[in-house]
Amino acid sequence: MRNINEDTITQAVLAAMSDCTSDRLRTVMTSLVQHLHSFARDVKLTESEWLYAINFLTDVGHITDEKRQEFVLLSDTLGLSMLVTTQNNRKPAECTEATVLGPFFVAGAPEFSNGDDIANGAAGLPCFVTGHVRGLSGEPVANAVIEVWQSDEDGFYDVQYDGPPDAQAQFQARGRLRTLPDGLFHFRSILAEAYPIPHDGPVGRMLDALGRHPWRPAHLHFWIDAPGYEPLITHVFRNGDKYLDSDAVFGVRSTLIVDWVEHPPGVAPDGSQMDTPFYTLEYNFVLNPSKL
Ligand code: BEZ
Ligand code: FE
Repeated sequence: MRNINEDTITQAVLAAMSDCTSDRLRTVMTSLVQHLHSFARDVKLTESEWLYAINFLTDVGHITDEKRQEFVLLSDTLGLSMLVTTQNNRKPAECTEATVLGPFFVAGAPEFSNGDDIANGAAGLPCFVTGHVRGLSGEPVANAVIEVWQSDEDGFYDVQYDGPPDAQAQFQARGRLRTLPDGLFHFRSILAEAYPIPHDGPVGRMLDALGRHPWRPAHLHFWIDAPGYEPLITHVFRNGDKYLDSDAVFGVRSTLIVDWVEHPPGVAPDGSQMDTPFYTLEYNFVLNPSKL
């Protein structure tokens, strides 16, 4: 293969992959090469722009470790994560919509019973959360495993703080519980607040250069698993948040926006006496039956 020119190079790269034994890999890489080459032709990419992009991706790699996933942030802020989530979670309109998992889910969060306080010392006004998990025909889903996680009043997740030596104490405002026989779940937590995604790295610089902000509207993450149903990863958003229409990761869906009702100090839903204002939030989830 010689004398390849700017008109023949795309075909030459595709031909070089002809011995690939995986149909799927060849399909994906063929499309990727075609789109990359079309992009470079379309914008007439200069050498210095190409080098800038290489250095940018190198920085994305350098800042990435077990606690910081800059590639996921890049995918999220370019809308790729929500695109992949949406096209892989098509379901009837009655089902709860899926959203991105985000980088702050932690496996192995503590188990709680319904009614427990999952805050474990996280700062914020009390918030009492309740709802039902049901199937498409309205049937209650008992014993569904619900993972829930959220940020505190300063907009930080527990994993963003330097942790205390006791590993259990590091889990704050996150936990796992199960639905009751009628599909009900309820727990106490704290009021979630809007927060900026980590923006002290290359993705933050990209957002800045594009005139974009890094904020996400206040939300509460859920991951619901039950036998016989497709897993649901989603979050519910706080109505009235000023970032609902400019979420940095494009995750907001109208069906997921809910009123977080403010109450003056007084008796809370669990019967305890609150000496601060507190919030209540109710959201019902509908799961899609798994395909046979
Ligand atoms: C989150 O909601 O936890 C999140 C999602 C995408 C990027 C950053 C944070
Ligand atoms: Fe979040």
